[in-house]
Amino acid sequence: MQQPPVFLIGFMGSGKTSLGYPLAQLLRFEFIDLDQWIEQREGKTIHELFVQEGESVFRQKERAYLRSLPLGQRVIATGGGTPCHEQNMDWMNRVGTTVYLQVDAQILYERLLPHRNERPLLRHLSPEELLPFIKRLLAQREPYYRQAKHIVCADQLRVEQLHAVLTSC
Ligand code: S3P
Repeated sequence: MQQPPVFLIGFMGSGKTSLGYPLAQLLRFEFIDLDQWIEQREGKTIHELFVQEGESVFRQKERAYLRSLPLGQRVIATGGGTPCHEQNMDWMNRVGTTVYLQVDAQILYERLLPHRNERPLLRHLSPEELLPFIKRLLAQREPYYRQAKHIVCADQLRVEQLHAVLTSC
């Protein structure tokens, strides 16, 4: 029998992609990274989509691509904003198992600081502005993230621990 997909959700830098791929291997599921899926089909980077078309067009596309994903036995790493727009969280909770990778704001800051130029929402921020920005956006997003079926502390999470959460219920 086919098992439902696992959706990994959480803030930028929470480990959705880096834990998602080995998790998929442990579960013998396929792995899909939603951002990469969109980039491949649009022929543009997420950054180009944000700059050329704006965030609201990106969110429409993200909504449509999310709903067009092949489901079944897959681990799907979503974008940090995916659960917070377009009723995506309700939809993911209906069709799959959602897991919130919860990471402390200070740790997110340390992870994101060297990589902030790669992310359209962060690239305009100075190092001093980054931590307050993360705290503010995380507070806005937590009510959505917290609707996940599983909430897992991912400050120092190993993939085996994440696997155990999903296989022990
Ligand atoms: C976003 C997170 C990004 C990407 C886009 C918007 C967000 O994904 O979808 O830049 O709104 O938090 P990651 O969480 O994989 O960086």
